[in-house]
Amino acid sequence: MQIKKAVIPAAGFGTRMLPATKAIPKELLTVVDKPGIQYVIEEAVAAGVTEVLVITGRGKGDIDDHFDRMPELEQVLAAKGRTRELEAVLKPARLAAMHYIRQQQALGLGHAVYCAKAFVGREPFFVLLPDDLIDGGPPCVAELFAAAQEGESVIAVQEVPWQDTRKYGVVSIDEATGLVRGIVEKPEPHEAPSNLAVVGRYLLQPVVFSCLEQITTGAGGELQLTDALALMIKQGHKIRPCKFSGVRYDTGSPLGFLEANVGMALAREDMRESVRGMLLQLLRRG
Ligand code: UTP
Repeated sequence: MQIKKAVIPAAGFGTRMLPATKAIPKELLTVVDKPGIQYVIEEAVAAGVTEVLVITGRGKGDIDDHFDRMPELEQVLAAKGRTRELEAVLKPARLAAMHYIRQQQALGLGHAVYCAKAFVGREPFFVLLPDDLIDGGPPCVAELFAAAQEGESVIAVQEVPWQDTRKYGVVSIDEATGLVRGIVEKPEPHEAPSNLAVVGRYLLQPVVFSCLEQITTGAGGELQLTDALALMIKQGHKIRPCKFSGVRYDTGSPLGFLEANVGMALAREDMRESVRGMLLQLLRRG
């Protein structure tokens, strides 16, 4: 069996990236030379996904435009023989069957995922947060799929510095089974069950929707996906942690965004040498 559907929550306000995100959706900010959301959809497609639902909100309409055709521009590029640029314009429109739904109020990630209930139906599906870019290695969601045993959900995890646990969902692992035993959202370091943080890639079973119906407002006054996952575990559903191979960048804050741009440019063969030269020159300048 393969997973055909992916959900991309993109309805958040992106407050940490203001003022950049005042009029431009955070998900469309350019990392090296394309919008962050395109990387995660390419990752999902590389893992076999054919249907993508983006959870949008007010002011996010440009996301839809990015994955649409643009005949006038295509004609101009074709007439000028600019094949490379034409391919770049066509690619986002050809990636997958794109669907959009509005989360009418940004009530939290759990609420955003719940908006996908009708789209998902009764099969397992992926959730990819477009803030988290995972570079190098096989597609992260393909690794989650490979790790899953029948009926299990899988979440991507990564060790983070202890002082950063308050930024993440944090898991504890049952040593006997290797499964997630508990999960809490944004614990203070002294309360965190471990320093193993949840990264924005999930393979979820549809039972998550009935758990999302039962949770109440959690950390930050939001409906948290983490709380629904905790409820799934309590009800006896299995969630497996998966340490992935790629390098993860969190583009949701200015410094993380900068790191993603530099790191991902350095990882590209066509750019490495010039970026290194540029960085050395900047460092010399002090
Ligand atoms: P974040 O908390 O990282 O994104 O949510 P944010 O709320 O946009 O950013 P800040 O904290 O204000 O800077 C993780 C993901 O969940 C989506 C966001 O778009 C992001 O991709 N999200 C969050 C929703 O779709 N709806 C929500 O109500 C909340």
